[in-house]
Amino acid sequence: MKILFINGSPKGDRSVTLCTARHLEKRYPAHEYSVLNAGARIKALEKDFSEAESAINAAEVVIFVYPVYTFIAPYQLHRFFELLKASEASCKGKYFAEITTSKHFYDVTALKYVEENACDLGMRYVGALSADMDDLRSEKGRHEADSFFERLMFDIENGHYKEAEALCARTDSEVYAQQLPYKKKTGGKEVAVVTNAATDDINLRNMIEDFSAACKYRVRVVNVRDFPFKGGCLGCFNCAVSGKCVYNDGFEEFLRKDVQTADAIIYAFTVSDHYTHSSFKLYDDRQFCNGHRAVTAGKVTGYIISGRYSEEANLRMITEARADVSGMYFAGVAGDEGDTAKELEGLAKTVCFALDNGLSAPKSFYGVGGTKIFRDLVYLMQGIMQADHKFYKAHGIYDFPQKKRGMIFAMKALGLLMRSEAVQKKMKGEMTKYMLLPYEKVIEKTVPKEN
Ligand SMILES: Cc1cc2nc3c(=O)[nH]c(=O)nc-3n(C[C@H](O)[C@H](O)[C@H](O)COP(=O)(O)O)c2cc1C
Repeated sequence: MKILFINGSPKGDRSVTLCTARHLEKRYPAHEYSVLNAGARIKALEKDFSEAESAINAAEVVIFVYPVYTFIAPYQLHRFFELLKASEASCKGKYFAEITTSKHFYDVTALKYVEENACDLGMRYVGALSADMDDLRSEKGRHEADSFFERLMFDIENGHYKEAEALCARTDSEVYAQQLPYKKKTGGKEVAVVTNAATDDINLRNMIEDFSAACKYRVRVVNVRDFPFKGGCLGCFNCAVSGKCVYNDGFEEFLRKDVQTADAIIYAFTVSDHYTHSSFKLYDDRQFCNGHRAVTAGKVTGYIISGRYSEEANLRMITEARADVSGMYFAGVAGDEGDTAKELEGLAKTVCFALDNGLSAPKSFYGVGGTKIFRDLVYLMQGIMQADHKFYKAHGIYDFPQKKRGMIFAMKALGLLMRSEAVQKKMKGEMTKYMLLPYEKVIEKTVPKEN
């Protein structure tokens, strides 16, 4: 078969993920392979997409090969999908699969994002390999890569594939008109709305205006499209080593001064291609200069989203998981699928209420699981990720269970005690009562909160 690897990594031929593709090429020489370095050559493809078009037209199977970047794919692959959707390339009915490497931090949302976009183009989904970036170096990892490829061929031979359901045509909803009264601003706190609203996206612009009007605190709108980015994150890890980005376009200063100083950060965008316009992903990826540090933890966050957000389960997971991992208080999402004005006013009031009352919430699986992946990664890579390591030590993020010696000892002692038949008899049916004792003590000490 004619197999095209579309390499979304900005590192081009130096991509770790591409090594899995190269391994498969050597393992299964009966097929004809080619590589399109879409990520590294995105600027050239923006000017002339014909090379990509002919490569796709000639292929029987397309395999998207890319690293996971901040919950999804690199900005460059997002941009590639925009260009591909606008092109004449014949994608319909073509088989596609995915190969990705990462540390498994939200690889699931990245895989779904690519799947949804390729399915939009009428392509047939036949599977994915989501490997750890080191997997190819082990026998087990190579076996898994081979298994993926053999299953891929098996599925194609047997016509096992998934296609997007035909969606019924949607009529565009009316443009939202500003209608909320302007609330006089009080000082003390500041809210930043970070958006990629295009000049002609009047709908989203009006939503932001109304959110700002309904907010009792001053709202500063930061449009990432206005920032003179020199380019997308290159994945070069220069920032991890030296703390400085290779681009000297002032992004880090902009991020620290214009965004991270606010008490609440609200993201505003219009849904497209199962996320939003790639300008937002460019902004997301460049935040890699923060390393793996939740520098805005304790602040408040929320979203203003225009479009069919309720139909985008994967996007909902991304927004909720981002808030959770960041340790920010999630005030909610205001959309334009129902009573837009009510939702915007509700979000504005909730953000102010959360700020006034210092609300916080425990992390869910999204945040706890994600933080543990980072914890282990930073600990191992502390020699390089020095700023992350310092931050993790200072903020008690190294919560390794093996450090909790007291707890381990107490459990061992309890286990020993419970071996005795006499103790077992005494404890029979009483275990839950004993487990509750420390909580009962807390409730005993609870006092009414003063207003
Ligand atoms: C900007 C940036 C963002 C990243 N985001 C994630 C992430 O969200 N989840 C994850 O598991 N790994 C993440 N990584 C790690 C890469 O996915 C991993 O290093 C990958 O193997 C690189 O592949 P490549 O050499 O093909 O580009 C990120 C790396 C960079 C540079």
